[in-house]
Amino acid sequence: MKRHQGLFITFEGSEGCGKSTQSKMLLDHLEAEGVLAVLLREPGGVKISEKVREILLDKKNTAMTKECETLLYMAARAQLVEEALLPELKKGKVVILDRFLDSTVAYQGYGCGVDAATIRAIGLFATQGVQPDVTFFLDLDAAEGLRRRGSERDRIEERALEYHQRVRRGYQAIAEEEPARVVQIDGKLSKESIFEIIRKRVDLLLREKGHA
Ligand code: TMP
Repeated sequence: MKRHQGLFITFEGSEGCGKSTQSKMLLDHLEAEGVLAVLLREPGGVKISEKVREILLDKKNTAMTKECETLLYMAARAQLVEEALLPELKKGKVVILDRFLDSTVAYQGYGCGVDAATIRAIGLFATQGVQPDVTFFLDLDAAEGLRRRGSERDRIEERALEYHQRVRRGYQAIAEEEPARVVQIDGKLSKESIFEIIRKRVDLLLREKGHA
């Protein structure tokens, strides 16, 4: 794992789980506390990766294979890691990232059936071995999440309910395998209760790292 001074926090979960709301709440909280923090998203976060995002989510790209999809997510990630994630961490900032490698394991691995060992090997190349200090996984029933997202859906959201259920099970498996890193939170809890769990954990990590 690459050494850095900052704190690397990721948010994960299936569609409509509330992670984007929570990551913004965390950014606001940290800024209010005077902690230098930045919020980025995947796929995207920097110009080239945002362009790759457009290709990935474009509903017209029906012919895209699972291998191509996996590599495009990884390409977007590689650019973000080198251009933004590592530089911000080196500056000692808290980087909040809305999705990271676990998304590929869940969506392309468990969801599409891409081999997990292959994903991890390409993942190591794309991320240069940087790993989150903590990951908040907001666990929510797939049907409920899709309902929350509404009717306008991108290429991935359009997939069948069974696909999204596999993604959720993928995340649950990751959380079970890595309990020290992944904090699983019930996505049905209120926005405030979820944030309280996140805030406590982050404040503790900041104290440990000497940020607060
Ligand atoms: P978002 O809706 O959280 O912005 O994410 C965009 C979509 O991309 C979402 O449906 C999840 C999907 N995705 C993958 O399938 N694999 C990945 O590696 C990432 C980062 C996202």
